[in-house]
Amino acid sequence: MEGENCSCESRFTPVDDIRPLEEIIEKYRGDRSAVISIFHELHEVYGYLDESIMEELARRAGFQLSQLYGLATFYTQFRLEPVGEHLIKICHGTACHVRNAQGLIDEVERALGIGPGQTSRDRKFTVETVNCVGTCALAPVVVVDGKYHGRMTPSKMQKLLKQYIEKGGSGEDGD
Ligand code: FES
Repeated sequence: MEGENCSCESRFTPVDDIRPLEEIIEKYRGDRSAVISIFHELHEVYGYLDESIMEELARRAGFQLSQLYGLATFYTQFRLEPVGEHLIKICHGTACHVRNAQGLIDEVERALGIGPGQTSRDRKFTVETVNCVGTCALAPVVVVDGKYHGRMTPSKMQKLLKQYIEKGGSGEDGD
């Protein structure tokens, strides 16, 4: 199962390319209640809600910038900072929780010095906890750059992180 279901989410559009923003604004033109849907789409494209993107959105779609930030900070799933080179998502849904997802979080904190919601100083790693990723039979599950790693243990986590740290690797050789 590992290495499957790659959504290649580590490849985001640079924020100076505003074509996707224009398309998203066009798609929701006239729908003042669609801000959250717009945020979701921008998040998918750019990986986070960049300041310049928020400003453009406010200007082009006629929103107050403060209103946009109010919403973006209210919904904690939106990032306002860019993600690191590698995005580590640790599932903390029920099945993963009872199978020691916390042990994986602890291992990441020990190895990288960062916890959920944080990005390492060298911008190599961002760590997040997420709700069920849909593969509970393989709990506990970690998703790194869109690659699913099931039945994880703290020692497997340690090995996986080592591959990324030492080789700048893709985690492909993990067991
Ligand atoms: S709870 Fe983690 S995959 Fe479902």
